[in-house]
Amino acid sequence: MARRPMMAANWKMNKTVREAEEYLAALTPRVEADAGDGEVDVAVFVPFTALGAVGRMAGDSSVMAGAQNFYYEDSGAFTGEVSVPMLLDLGVRAVITGHSERREIFGETDTLVARKTSRALTAGLLPVVCVGETKEERDSGGMWDKVSKQVRAVVEGLGENASSGEVADRLVFAYEPIWAIGTGDTATPDDAQDAARKVRDLLGELRGEEFADRVRILYGGSVKPENVGEIMARDDVDGGLVGGASLEAASFIELVAGARKGTV
Ligand code: 13P
Repeated sequence: MARRPMMAANWKMNKTVREAEEYLAALTPRVEADAGDGEVDVAVFVPFTALGAVGRMAGDSSVMAGAQNFYYEDSGAFTGEVSVPMLLDLGVRAVITGHSERREIFGETDTLVARKTSRALTAGLLPVVCVGETKEERDSGGMWDKVSKQVRAVVEGLGENASSGEVADRLVFAYEPIWAIGTGDTATPDDAQDAARKVRDLLGELRGEEFADRVRILYGGSVKPENVGEIMARDDVDGGLVGGASLEAASFIELVAGARKGTV
């Protein structure tokens, strides 16, 4: 089945409100103008401080405002956290869960990632769930052991939810090998395809072929305009989650165009 491609920017801890506004002012009209050239979901995952401005400027355009983090409880004594209703209030439509930086630096576990993903789906948000292995894990042949555990935890945590096609259309995985993030050391298109295929096969095992066929799987790790085409050309890779090369609006606009080309 034809899955709708997706190109997502993860700004990480970058940009003031003013810089975010300038970026959206450049990006949104371009994405809207090109929307007729092929369907592609575009999301920008921005810091909390810029979410109000980005949510307002993206509105219900073809650009989705996205949050890089949140907590699964709706309110209460959770100092420093932000909840799903708070994100919805700002016009947020997508979230990242399980980014390796949250797992490695802030200690997020598979269980926490699963709970957050489930909460996002219940709220109608589009979660991009990141999975991926370290260099040591890859070199010792442990890549699939790590990634399959991460995927399983999320899918098993969805419970009843997971059988519906509507959930499959919103659930997105991003295979982001940690050794390729911010290093310029991109996985080969074969590596990206191989990982995406394995994830899709596992989804099929857990929830059936039809479900697996609908879930989108992105690749992330040093994606840039020069390599997006060959990565997008692979069957099971449905788009990209981009850090460094998404920080300039012009470069991200090129990446979105690359995702469109992947559709034809
Ligand atoms: P880079 O594109 O900078 O390698 O970052 C990838 C990433 O972590 C996106 O979430």
